[in-house]
Amino acid sequence: MRAVLCAPQRVLQLTLAIIKPDAVAHPLILEAVHKTILSKRFLIVRSKDLVWSRQDSQQFYQEHSGRFFYQRLVEFMASGPMRAYILAHEEAIPLWRSLMGPTKVFRAQHTAPESIRGAYGLTDTRNTVHGSDSAASASREMAFFFPEFSEREWYQHEEPQLRGGPVCYDTKAAVHRVPRDGWTPEAD
Ligand code: CDP
Ligand code: MG
Repeated sequence: MRAVLCAPQRVLQLTLAIIKPDAVAHPLILEAVHKTILSKRFLIVRSKDLVWSRQDSQQFYQEHSGRFFYQRLVEFMASGPMRAYILAHEEAIPLWRSLMGPTKVFRAQHTAPESIRGAYGLTDTRNTVHGSDSAASASREMAFFFPEFSEREWYQHEEPQLRGGPVCYDTKAAVHRVPRDGWTPEAD
């Protein structure tokens, strides 16, 4: 009888992560944040490069309308290309928030210098990354960026396969996949 090598894993949690325009403008920083995602063993479920209109930006950050930083935030987020990811991990939401570090870059540099914002953030607004702060925000934000993505269907079909493994990273599509349907990493 074969020994069971892996303890059963918990259900994967999803979060929405953004690499903001300040980081996408610098290819080396973009690559460094992307590598952090891979090295922390997140599964990349979907990824997309895009540019927001001012309207997209206003809608996404509606909860902050009225705050003193709202206008500068809206303008910054519509100022250039960004990258959005749906990430999966057993603790995707708190793990990604902790890797991001504190919102304010000065605080991040002092209290969490190894965090993404501590290492690459420029200002309180141009702070490199976004991450959902709860499961409800994650669902809303995934639907905002990936309207074609069905969380329900993903949990039904893809999650059990990804959790069971084996899983490979498809560098061309920039997502993790289960090697099947004629696709293997070697076929790239
Ligand atoms: O992004 P996070 O959830 O850590 O912080 P938030 O309080 O939800 O704020 C959303 C975004 O607004 C931040 O990530 C910053 O880009 C921006 N912000 C700002 O420009 N100035 C502040 N004093 C606070 C937030
Ligand atoms: Mg927030």
